[in-house]
Amino acid sequence: MAERPYVIDQMISAKAIAARVEGLAREITAHFRGTDKLVVVGLLRGSFVFIADLVREIDLPVEVDFLEASSYGDALHSSREVRILKDLRGEIASRDVLIVEDIIDTGFTLHHVKRMFEAREPKRLEVCALLDKPSRREADIRATWTGFEIPDEFVVGYGIDFAQRNRNLPYIGKVRFTDGAA
Ligand code: IMP
Ligand code: MG
Repeated sequence: MAERPYVIDQMISAKAIAARVEGLAREITAHFRGTDKLVVVGLLRGSFVFIADLVREIDLPVEVDFLEASSYGDALHSSREVRILKDLRGEIASRDVLIVEDIIDTGFTLHHVKRMFEAREPKRLEVCALLDKPSRREADIRATWTGFEIPDEFVVGYGIDFAQRNRNLPYIGKVRFTDGAA
């Protein structure tokens, strides 16, 4: 699959992303104003660029933590298992918590992580996703804040990968195969 030739067509420019990140950070800052500390949790690895830009625009005392989850899909069955590969270092009980995700697709990952966090009884728990593909949703979940809604295309860049490549692109682009196959 990764061996197939493809090109990347720009979908969202670096400038458009920066403007949207600033807007999201402004809304998040307003929402949590007065907090003693906001724990911003990035879901690895796809959110690492987004969270780096986002936290620098959030005007609140912030702690940064990371969680790595992996979803094992079986294309034929809709019930998917999500495994935690790396848990948080810090506690979130009685804390204000913001989950930062690169892209919500079926929603299974976020659904699982959110349920797991809720069991730890944070004070407030919100979600900020850079991208959302609502047409792909299977789990009943939505982000508090979404950067951009996109169609059902496979995208890369700004932290998001295709077979671990293209995370370093400064923009979001869609993968287009050039070998003629679907
Ligand atoms: P979900 O559990 O189906 O919502 O999975 C979301 C995760 O799948 C994202 O955090 C990405 O890691 C990955 N993903 C979904 N769509 C894309 C895409 O278009 N490009 C790259 N990764 C994607
Ligand atoms: Mg991810």
